[in-house]
Amino acid sequence: MIISVEGIDGAGKTTLVKALEKALREKGIEVEVFREPGTTEVGEKIRDILKSTEIDPLTELLLFEASRRELVATRLKDTGKKVILIDRFSDSSTAYQGYGKGVDLKLIELLNKKVTEGIKPDLTILLDIDPDTALSRIGKRDRFEEREFLQRVREGFLRIASSDKNRFLILNGKGSKEEVLDRALTRIMELLRRDF
Ligand code: TYD
Repeated sequence: MIISVEGIDGAGKTTLVKALEKALREKGIEVEVFREPGTTEVGEKIRDILKSTEIDPLTELLLFEASRRELVATRLKDTGKKVILIDRFSDSSTAYQGYGKGVDLKLIELLNKKVTEGIKPDLTILLDIDPDTALSRIGKRDRFEEREFLQRVREGFLRIASSDKNRFLILNGKGSKEEVLDRALTRIMELLRRDF
């Protein structure tokens, strides 16, 4: 079972991924955790490039897709683990490069499909939060442009979720850590009992 966790910066994704990993292990369920961009040797190098400098949106998309491709080609399949948790996956490219930066959505869809070989998460947990709260959490409260950008990305995620309702669980990123973990875990256990 592949579970991706998505949301704008500051939504609490990484905290949730760590908490889920621990909770699932305590239940005796084998978990493997990946992150995007990154995880593979090539992916981590791409991550360094992306973090170090401002990049043209299309170049940026291609780098994220290249990192994703390495993950899918070398790590994602046949892990032998019951649950794979991914901190961001294809939806991040659609939301950030597409809705956030105006790169052609059809192109992103095509690239996502190609690099993932059509693999979609069985469940995507979207931590939804308003940009003001997110920015104050990451210490960038007063940046108007950043706020507008994150607002577009947030709306992008919500649109993707509404067009693929069965795959998504939307949780309020302002909820307590315990509450968010509890809701996510309940859904995962339901799915594991039903389909896996
Ligand atoms: P993330 O790892 O969540 O950030 P951090 O570890 O610093 O909390 O994601 C890195 C950034 O990359 C984040 O701003 C979202 C962005 N991103 C995209 O724009 N497109 C993508 O396809 C992915 C995977 C991430």
